Amino acid sequence: MPRTTGTYRPTTIAGRAVEAFIPAPLPLKDPALDLGGTRETLLTEAQASLERLSLVGRLVPSIEWFIYGFVRKEALISSQIEGTQATLEDVLEFEATERSDRPDDVEEVCNYVAALTYARRELSSAGGLPVSTRLLCEAHKLLMKGARGGNKDPGHLRKVQNWIGGRSADTIRFVPPPPDALVDAMHELDRWIHSEDPTHPLVKAGLAHVQFETIHPFLDGNGRIGRLLIALLLEHWGLLDQPLLYISAAIRRDQSEYYQRLSAVRTEGDWEGWTEFFLRCVRSAADDGVSVTTQISALVSDDRKRLARLPGSTLAAVQLFDMLPEHPVVTGPLVMKLMDTSAPTARRSIDILQRADILVETTGKLRDRAFTYRRYVKALTGEDSGDVADDVS
Ligand SMILES: Nc1ncnc2c1ncn2[C@@H]1O[C@H](COP(=O)(O)OP(=O)(O)O)[C@@H](O)[C@H]1O
Ligand SMILES: [Mg+2]
Repeated sequence: MPRTTGTYRPTTIAGRAVEAFIPAPLPLKDPALDLGGTRETLLTEAQASLERLSLVGRLVPSIEWFIYGFVRKEALISSQIEGTQATLEDVLEFEATERSDRPDDVEEVCNYVAALTYARRELSSAGGLPVSTRLLCEAHKLLMKGARGGNKDPGHLRKVQNWIGGRSADTIRFVPPPPDALVDAMHELDRWIHSEDPTHPLVKAGLAHVQFETIHPFLDGNGRIGRLLIALLLEHWGLLDQPLLYISAAIRRDQSEYYQRLSAVRTEGDWEGWTEFFLRCVRSAADDGVSVTTQISALVSDDRKRLARLPGSTLAAVQLFDMLPEHPVVTGPLVMKLMDTSAPTARRSIDILQRADILVETTGKLRDRAFTYRRYVKALTGEDSGDVADDVS
């Protein structure tokens, strides 16, 4: 017996009669979500993988290194799912140089980092906003700041009817709720998130994502805010104490299945199929996170030893090295600022790290040069992990 997934309401797009879909509020009932069989196994495995990720996060010398890198990785890939052309090195280089000519693609990724940072701070501070429509609107405002997002009504629920599909009305695949239904639909979602629904919180985070995407409350940025919501819920429900899960990597790997699973919830009520997909993504992203964390820890520890043994190495060079995981791209002026030191000392420390084969000059210029901890960035992006599947989308 298929579930009632929601109701349809006639409306028009570009003069064409269409049916807008209003999802039934959660919790799922008639029947309730079936978490037996494969899903039970997947849930156990995904939880175990998340716990391992939390644990390695506690065992590494500095969790800050990983938070810095993993948050940027998630920001980048979530934006890549939506078509950004930026690379991780572009983003890191921009953060080091703060050039005024920031490309729009890089701006989007930096905005995502700002939105996540803001939302986490709200959630962890005493008078801060809870996980709520208001919080997501504020995050949306930050995400849409600047060149590309300015005309996307930043921070507000949309006031017009939108659709998913191509640009022309012929290619409509799905028409989300009409604007006058958004406040209620989002209110129901907020209420359910904070309700006593006994469904496992990891599964709940996945259900919340689908519901959010189906409501599609913003003019743009729904995919990114909806994936950010997953990160916030995992922390809010204590499944992970730091934002170490870059789930977008796993979603991007199976992007067409992602879209198809989202649609099947609406068209067939197939929440079980979605839940399997989501739990597989969580498991795979967490396992990948564990493996990258281990690799980076080993890399940093090897490089540090080599640096200490390098003839002519200095204490300042080692101190600079210890800052690299949080500043994988540096410039002369940045090093002066970070180390509160003179230009010659900064210069000498960078030289030593270049000789130790740790930093590589990446601009090819004589002035305004930037130096990248290349092997670290490669390990972070997965280029060196042998995990080729990560880059196939
Ligand atoms: N068939 C679908 N049903 C529900 N949501 C979908 C469907 N197809 C895509 N989506 C969601 O819509 C997002 C794209 O919406 P958009 O507002 O452009 O977000 P962004 O600008 O962050 O890409 C996708 O990333 C996905 O999360
Ligand atoms: Mg978009």
